[in-house]
Amino acid sequence: MDTNQQIVRIGVVGCGYWGPNLIRNFYENNQVEVRYVCDLDLDKLVRMHKRYPSVKPTTDYEKMLKDPEVDAIVIATPVHTHYPLARKALEANKHVLVEKPMCMTSQQCRELIAMAEERNLVLMVDHTFVYHGAVRRIKQEINSGKLGELLYFDSVRINLGLFQSDINVIWDLAPHDLSVMDYLLDRTPLTVHATGVSHTASGIEDIAYITLTFDNNLIAHFHVSWLSPVKIRQVLIGGTNQMIVYDDMTPMEKVRVYDKGITVNNPETEEQRYQNLIQYRVGDMFAPNLDLSEALKIEVAHFVDCVLNGTKPLTDGYAGLRVVQILESANASLATKQPQELPKVGVK
Ligand SMILES: NC(=O)c1ccc[n+]([C@@H]2O[C@H](COP(=O)([O-])OP(=O)(O)OC[C@H]3O[C@@H](n4cnc5c(N)ncnc54)[C@H](O)[C@@H]3O)[C@@H](O)[C@H]2O)c1
Repeated sequence: MDTNQQIVRIGVVGCGYWGPNLIRNFYENNQVEVRYVCDLDLDKLVRMHKRYPSVKPTTDYEKMLKDPEVDAIVIATPVHTHYPLARKALEANKHVLVEKPMCMTSQQCRELIAMAEERNLVLMVDHTFVYHGAVRRIKQEINSGKLGELLYFDSVRINLGLFQSDINVIWDLAPHDLSVMDYLLDRTPLTVHATGVSHTASGIEDIAYITLTFDNNLIAHFHVSWLSPVKIRQVLIGGTNQMIVYDDMTPMEKVRVYDKGITVNNPETEEQRYQNLIQYRVGDMFAPNLDLSEALKIEVAHFVDCVLNGTKPLTDGYAGLRVVQILESANASLATKQPQELPKVGVK
């Protein structure tokens, strides 16, 4: 790629539910030319062509790869296709933005990371929530140290969801929360324990609970479900000084920072031991102003910056790998009904 180039030419594969959101955001970015959209389904291509007449529709993935002017490929197809499509794109020397979860196995993630590194290509994973104004604001709060020592990360993502036929509810929903946790806590989990149940003949779990343990008594918990009558998207993050509630369903005050906590007194006498040793601190709550820009817009601009200027992606292949490692171990835990140690390689 010409180092003075100011435009990134891309091809997007996958025009189903999520692909059109990516196409729209890339199309609206001044530094991008969306040259191709690709799908096996002609109806979806016709729909895209009506909306973006200047973009070439194609059912032939190889055609985009053979075009020497295409710099990057964006992959928004089902999970099992991510690895073969990303591999081919990297082999053709194209930068890659791939949907979450990055691949079906951590081995596949490692192979893609190695290929991108060898060829000096950008490999980024669409962990969309990392680019949300709310999550970026929470990160500032954690980085400022005001929360104190981190105690827990507790997430609920449930609704009457679309039952998937190829992946369980953990692989469908938890990548969002795991990527947010990975970004916000910046800590290495030690073990994962998952329990889940399938309520259909498919045997695919539709409700699951995942627990991660860390050093220093930090604990994370994730509740994911396609079988809830109400939609809840909520994260609680507790620190020794402050606690945060992030409610993605509320239109106002999505992030609330509570100046609440406990102080544990050390008993000096036997009598004190039987008294209440916990003191409660209840202070103010504040709701910070959030950047309401669409997360994908910020993410697309970041990907363009990475391709044009060699910036390291915030959600690079290693971030994708860390999430897939947890998903993989969560599946192993479901199968064995035992907690699993998480591999250290590829994890922060
Ligand atoms: N980041 C997010 O918030 C978010 C949200 C939803 C979905 N996703 C991810 O996006 C990806 C796609 O999900 P979706 O819900 O849009 O799926 P979908 O089934 O609605 O769309 C997938 C599209 O890919 C096409 N396709 C499949 N294989 C292909 C191939 N080999 N070549 C060309 N086209 C092919 C299908 O015809 C279909 O149109 C998944 O990885 C999913 O996890 C991400």
